[in-house]
Amino acid sequence: MARHFLTLNDFSPDELEALLDHATKLRREWRQGTVRETLKNRVLAMIFEKSSTRTRVSFEAGMAQLGGSALFLSPRDTQLGRGEPLEDSAIVISSMVDAVMIRTFDHATAERFAAASRAPVINALTDTFHPCQLLADMQTYREHRGSIRGGTVAWIGDGNNMCHSYMNAANQFGFNLRIACPEGYEPDAALLQTHAGHTEMVRDPAEAARDAHLLVTDVWASMGQEDEQKAREGAFANYQINPQLMSLADKDALFMHCLPAHRGEEISADMMEHAGSVVWDEAENRLHAQKALLEFLILNPGTA
Ligand code: CP
Ligand code: NVA
Repeated sequence: MARHFLTLNDFSPDELEALLDHATKLRREWRQGTVRETLKNRVLAMIFEKSSTRTRVSFEAGMAQLGGSALFLSPRDTQLGRGEPLEDSAIVISSMVDAVMIRTFDHATAERFAAASRAPVINALTDTFHPCQLLADMQTYREHRGSIRGGTVAWIGDGNNMCHSYMNAANQFGFNLRIACPEGYEPDAALLQTHAGHTEMVRDPAEAARDAHLLVTDVWASMGQEDEQKAREGAFANYQINPQLMSLADKDALFMHCLPAHRGEEISADMMEHAGSVVWDEAENRLHAQKALLEFLILNPGTA
């Protein structure tokens, strides 16, 4: 049975820490120009049912840099888009490649694909989770500040897929998560219950930010919610990360955003260049963290 990476819970805390150590090593090696061909002749299939810049470029470049290759599959030109059953597609695609990456809407689609797949399946974002982004975020925090264990992270904004993955991360990496969101935009109730021990819901962004070690946010309207944009702008008006909010946090606090960002909405125009901002390293680390993930899943089938 192949191991999959559909949420952070698919790996143990020790596996996650080892993966991040490896990612940092890969980043260093890559910057030094070391040639690495651990995935020579290996192929990654990439199924994208939603748009992407970082995820597509990082997976495709990552496979190439490890000596392998990646196939971009859009429902517009595969039989998946014409109604071929998901399980049939999963059996066929996974019989020809070494791993599959899927970005889709319903999380159950990724789960069903994985259940029928012979090859490891990676969740590259669903409506409910975005675990690959958390690998990059956790790698970035460690590289700048060391372990996040015992620290406090403030999530400001929508209780969305990124927020859910931060809840999983709080458990797996051992930090406290304060979530500040407007009424009606809370994270999933069942997940909140599961994570009650290390997550706290507040309404006031200032209360969440106070003395926090990391402030994180995301767009107010995620992919698929474009028609809610106007209503969300009203509801989230007080939920912006800006230098004033950052000044309430720990003096060494970092700021992250998975990107793409909407300046003037969830962040002020100057936040990307704030002294605590590590957004560009965070984006680049998608490459290194996922190269570590690909090696982990492809080179240790069933045991990663
Ligand atoms: N952060 C992220 O997943 O970006 P893309 O949508 O560009 O892949
Ligand atoms: N929450 C955002 C993340 C984009 C990377 C979305 O799902 O659109």
